Amino acid sequence: MNVSTLTQTIETIEWTPDGVVMIDQTRLPRETVFVTCRDYQEVAEAIRSMIIRGAPAIGVAAAMGVAIGALKSDNLESDMPVICETLAKTRPTAVNLFWAIDRMKRVYDESKAAGLAAVRARLVKEAALVRAEDIAINQAIGRHGAGLVPDGKTVLTHCNAGALATAGFGTALGVIRAAVQMGKKIDVFADETRPFLQGARLTAWELQRDGIDTTLITDNMAGHFLKSGRIGCVVVGADRIAGNGDVANKIGTYSVAVLAKENNVPFYVAAPISTLDLTLVSGDQIPIEERASQEVTHVQGVHVAPDGIKVANPAFDVTPNRYVTAIITEKGVARAPFTESLRRL
Ligand code: MRU
Repeated sequence: MNVSTLTQTIETIEWTPDGVVMIDQTRLPRETVFVTCRDYQEVAEAIRSMIIRGAPAIGVAAAMGVAIGALKSDNLESDMPVICETLAKTRPTAVNLFWAIDRMKRVYDESKAAGLAAVRARLVKEAALVRAEDIAINQAIGRHGAGLVPDGKTVLTHCNAGALATAGFGTALGVIRAAVQMGKKIDVFADETRPFLQGARLTAWELQRDGIDTTLITDNMAGHFLKSGRIGCVVVGADRIAGNGDVANKIGTYSVAVLAKENNVPFYVAAPISTLDLTLVSGDQIPIEERASQEVTHVQGVHVAPDGIKVANPAFDVTPNRYVTAIITEKGVARAPFTESLRRL
């Protein structure tokens, strides 16, 4: 994996003649560093190590991983299953990863008869399409969601569901961006999002660059501000949404949703259709990733816990549908009963 510090316009992920270039999200906001992945194993490692993260961005990375794997292979018939499996094993919760790999597999199956050069070209084109579509989808999510954001109030968000978590614009932050573009006078409270600090490191960085009024809070302050009356709504992203509207998202989302309902604050989930997993009847079936204990015992490399302490580190939780006011997608806004409304979308 090649690393370089560039002063180019920030792009989360791009296909270039040198390979798949992505901004290293583990080093933000201190350093703006881009890494170039030159084969599918490097793309898989970038997803696993969270150089790239966020459900839609992981999907785009997986699509590009398949494409770069195809470019490097002389025998796709035997290599394609290995490439897809390697990428699929990186992270278990965000369904966009598996959605993107399945999409690339379908393109491969449809075009393999045309020969190696043609199938490679089709896979590269499809990966570029996945990326371009994601930006357009997020803008549509923003258009559908902006009207729901109360004017003159604060929006609370958790984790990072922004441009960095997608190919651009963001889902939850896309709704916020669209509301600001509509002329709404809003500000944002960003939960820091322990242990990986996506809120402090990424959401705060992104929104500050956009000139959107943002206040960083620690996760345990959310209830206090939800009770205060200043929060007009909560908007978060999602990693996987089950058929009944249960939502898997970054750990801590469930607590925010319960506190929002307790205080009559609307709780919105913004996500593309590719985040829906209608094969699952309920959120209990969503696999939850357990990450390394060092993410909890250390803060930015500094050891903050006693040696040998037991640690639990689930990266996601599931918010039951009863706490979800609406799910905002590129095709429209779904409300309860979600089993029907999500299928209609
Ligand atoms: O572990 P991460 O940083 O990949 O988790 C990201 C989230 O939970 C996001 O809220 C979700 O993927 C939606 S991103 C548009």
